[in-house]
Amino acid sequence: MSNYHIKNLEEYFQVYRKSVRDPESFWEEIAEENFMWRKRWDKVLDYDLSKPEVSWYKGAKLNITENCIDRHLYTRGDKTAIIFEPNDPSEAAEHITYRQLHDRVCRFANVLLDHGVKKGDRVCIYLPMIPDLAVSLLACARIGAIHSVVFAGFSSTALHTRINDSDCKMVITSDGSYRGGKTIDLKGIVDEALESCPGVKTVLVAKRINSEIPMKANRDKWLQPLLDAANNKCVPEIMDAEDPLFILYTSGSTGKPKGMVHTTAGYMVYTAYSFKNVFQYRENDVFWCTADIGWITGHSYIVYGPLANGATTVMFEGVPSYPDFGRFWQVIEKHKVNQFYTAPTAIRALAKERLDFSEKYDLSSLKILGSVGEPINEEAWHWYNDNIGKKNCPIVDTWWQTETGGIMISPIPYSTPTIPTYATLPLPGIQPALMDENGDELKGNLVSGRLCIKFPWPGMARTIWGNHERYRETYFSTFKNYYFSGDGALRDSTGYYRITGRVDDVIIVSGHNLGTAPIEDAINEHPAVAESAIVGFPHDVKGNALYGFVILKETGEGRVHDNLRKEINQIITEHIGPIAKLDKIQFVTGLPKTRSGKIMRRILRKIAEKDTNNLGDISTLLNPECVQEIMDEAL
Ligand code: WT7
Repeated sequence: MSNYHIKNLEEYFQVYRKSVRDPESFWEEIAEENFMWRKRWDKVLDYDLSKPEVSWYKGAKLNITENCIDRHLYTRGDKTAIIFEPNDPSEAAEHITYRQLHDRVCRFANVLLDHGVKKGDRVCIYLPMIPDLAVSLLACARIGAIHSVVFAGFSSTALHTRINDSDCKMVITSDGSYRGGKTIDLKGIVDEALESCPGVKTVLVAKRINSEIPMKANRDKWLQPLLDAANNKCVPEIMDAEDPLFILYTSGSTGKPKGMVHTTAGYMVYTAYSFKNVFQYRENDVFWCTADIGWITGHSYIVYGPLANGATTVMFEGVPSYPDFGRFWQVIEKHKVNQFYTAPTAIRALAKERLDFSEKYDLSSLKILGSVGEPINEEAWHWYNDNIGKKNCPIVDTWWQTETGGIMISPIPYSTPTIPTYATLPLPGIQPALMDENGDELKGNLVSGRLCIKFPWPGMARTIWGNHERYRETYFSTFKNYYFSGDGALRDSTGYYRITGRVDDVIIVSGHNLGTAPIEDAINEHPAVAESAIVGFPHDVKGNALYGFVILKETGEGRVHDNLRKEINQIITEHIGPIAKLDKIQFVTGLPKTRSGKIMRRILRKIAEKDTNNLGDISTLLNPECVQEIMDEAL
C-alpha cells in the first residue's frame, strides 16, 4: 500500500516522480495491491494518442461490483455502505450495509436479466437521488450492461436524444421526485421522451412520491414487486478490462451531446486511487459528496470510488435550501460527516445567508473540505474555510472533467499546502502540459496557456459513443499527441496550477457544463427568432450566467412582445432543462461576424461582461456597425 496513501509533501514528490518515470510499474503496483482480479493483465498500458487508442490492464478480467461490494462482505459486511438522507428531514435516513447492498444489487441485476438485458446492452437511468439509483448502476455493472445515467433535471427532449444516441433498450425511472418543496413528474417526462424511441422495450418504475401515474401496458413495470420476487444471488459477469462500464453525456461546444465512454478496469483503479488520496479516507470515515449521480462527480465519488474503498458514502436527495439554508450543515452534524465535497456555486449561495444557519450545528466531525465544478473564487474559499472548516480543514480544489473520469489536479490534504483559487498539483500519474497558441508546450514555471495532459491515465474516457472520429477531433487534434481539456490554466513560480476557465464555447453555469450551440439551436426553434448567440457573464452565485443576443425575423410575429423572453426560456427548458435558461435576453438587429460568417463571441462576451473599453480591432468584421448598437442597448 506504499503509494496508495500519501502522507506528506516529500512522499508526494517521490511518488509523483516514480509515476512519471515508470507509469506502468506505478499503476501496476496499485492495481495489484488493492483490487480483486479474476485474471491478471497481460500488459499494463498500450497506447497511441494519435488515433487515439488507449488500453489499461489489457487481458485482465474482473467485475467492478465484486470490487465494490462482494470482497468487502468478509470484513465489512455490517458496515454502512450508503447512508441515504431524504429530501424531507423528518423522513428517516436509511443506512444500507454492504451485505444489504449486495442483496439489493443482486436482486436488481436478476430483474434486468429477466427482462432480457444482456452484457453490452445500454440501459438508461433517469432517477432522483434515491438508493435505487446507486443500486441500478451497480446492477448494470453486475451483468455487464452499460449504464447511461441522465440527470433527472434534464428535459424530455434531452432525455430522448440521449436514449436514442446510445440505443438504450430499457429505461429505469420513478413515479416522480422530490426537490425541496416541489414534486416533479419524472414518469411524465419519460413518457414524452419515449414517444419516438423504438429501441426501448421496458420501463422499470420505482415508487418514490406515490403519485397516480399512467402505466403503459407491456412496457411499464413497477420495480419493487419485481425486486421482492427476485433471487438475491447473482453471479457477476466477468468483464474484460476494456469493456465499457458506462456512457455519460457531456455537452460539447457544437452539435449533439457527447456520450463519453468509460471502461471497467482503468476507471475503477483511478477513481479508487484518487478518492483515497484526495480525501485521505480512513476506515470508519463518513464521506459526503453533494453532487447528483447524474453527473460524473456522483458516478466517481458517490458510487464507484468510495465503494471500491469499502467506504461509507452519503447520498442526499434534497437541496441546500430546504427546509432552510442550514440543511447541509444539519446533515453534516447528523451523520458526523468527515469529508464534505461540494460545488462553489452552492458555497456562494449559502455564504449569502445568515451565519447562524451554519453556527447552530456541530461541524467538528469535518476533517477535509472539497470543491469541484468550476474555479472557486477567493471570497467563497475564505467563507468555506472560516465558517465551515473553522480554519482546521484543508480545502481540496479539485480540477477534472467528465472526460477524465476522476480528479486530475488537486492538493493532497496534509501534504500539499493550499492557496485559494489554485488546484495546485497533479495527482501521481497525471502529466499536465500548458500549450501556447502555436501548439508548442510551454516549459518551466510562470507560464499560462491551454491545459493539456500529455500521457494516458487509467481513468480517461476511451471514446465518444458511436463517434470515435469526433473524440479524436475534439480532444486529440488541437495539439498532436496531447489530450486537450478545453480549459486554460497558469503555472506559477512554484509549479502550482490555477485553472483560468474554458477557452472554448462551453460555459460553466452553477458548475454545469453547457455548450452554446445546443442552447442557440433551441432558441432558433422559436418561430419569431432568426438567429441567436449565447455568451457567459459573471454572476455572483452561479459563477457564470447566460446572456442571449437574439435577432428576430422581420415578420409580424417578430415584434418584441413581453412574452417573448418567457417563451424563449420556455423553449430552452423544454429542449435542455431549466439550468440552461438565460438571465438576460437582448434583441438585436445584427450579430458581429467575421468575413467567413463566424459569430465573434469574444466581442459579445465583452459587452455582456460590461468590459467594452478594449474591444480589440473590429474593423475587420463583416458588419462592424452593429457593435455600437448592441453596446448602446446592452442590459
Ligand atoms: C469543466 C468540466 C469535474 C466534475 C464536474 C464537472 C470546470 C471543474 C474545476 C475546478 C476550475 C473546474 C472546467 C472543466 N471545472 N472543476 N476545480 N476549477 N474549473 O465536470 O461537467 O465535465 O465539467 O468544469 O472548466 O473543464 P464537467
